[in-house]
Amino acid sequence: MSVYDLATTDALLSTTRAVRKRLDLKKPVPDQVIRECLELTLQAPTGSNRQGWRWVVVTDADKRAALADLYRKGVGSYLKESGEQAKTEGRAQDGRVYDSAQYLADHLQEVPVHVIPCIVVDHLPENPPRRVWPGVMGSIMPAVWSFQLALRARGLGSALTTLHLAYEKEAAELLGIPDGIMQCGLLPVAYTIGTEFKPAKRPPLDDVLHWNQWS
Ligand SMILES: Cc1cc2nc3c(=O)[nH]c(=O)nc-3n(C[C@H](O)[C@H](O)[C@H](O)COP(=O)(O)O)c2cc1C
Repeated sequence: MSVYDLATTDALLSTTRAVRKRLDLKKPVPDQVIRECLELTLQAPTGSNRQGWRWVVVTDADKRAALADLYRKGVGSYLKESGEQAKTEGRAQDGRVYDSAQYLADHLQEVPVHVIPCIVVDHLPENPPRRVWPGVMGSIMPAVWSFQLALRARGLGSALTTLHLAYEKEAAELLGIPDGIMQCGLLPVAYTIGTEFKPAKRPPLDDVLHWNQWS
């Protein structure tokens, strides 16, 4: 017995892609849709039930342009060079991802909504040990994924990006984000051009699965 319709649930889980070239840059996104999707993120799990998620939604055109500039500074020549290398080495899927990522970098300012997921880190020591990071990232990324799934279910798309984080401080100044709040990415959000998306090609499960013992 399944609790929810599995065909729909599995389609949502397997076709929520990083959308870049198919973001509709012309269609306005109502604030209410963003609020609805963010409302759902509040149900995501957090370590110690700390609920340290914070969200910064940016619709102001000047601020989006400034964020796009920071993003492109973060990109530098990385995407173009990696794309060329992937194509030379015959890694076609990777080549397409880098091309698509470069397209997003070029057009980020035109994407109608930027959403920056943040997490409160003011309780952490300066250089926390490795064991702390799963708890920190694990308390924001499930919420980010909930947001992306909620968007997809409503005909919108997004991509989790992290390349502006090299200029996190500048973005914090731009948006008035205080110390003790860590930015975890930037999600460009828009309606998608068409709503049909396919599951991505992935390696077989057994290539990555270890059951009871690693080897
Ligand atoms: C931690 C993380 C960081 C990412 N950073 C970027 C980024 O800075 N720019 C970008 O265009 N995509 C970024 N992506 C999206 C990945 O490129 C994308 O998820 C991957 O290519 C697989 O594509 P799919 O999500 O459509 O299956 C990031 C994804 C993750 C999980």
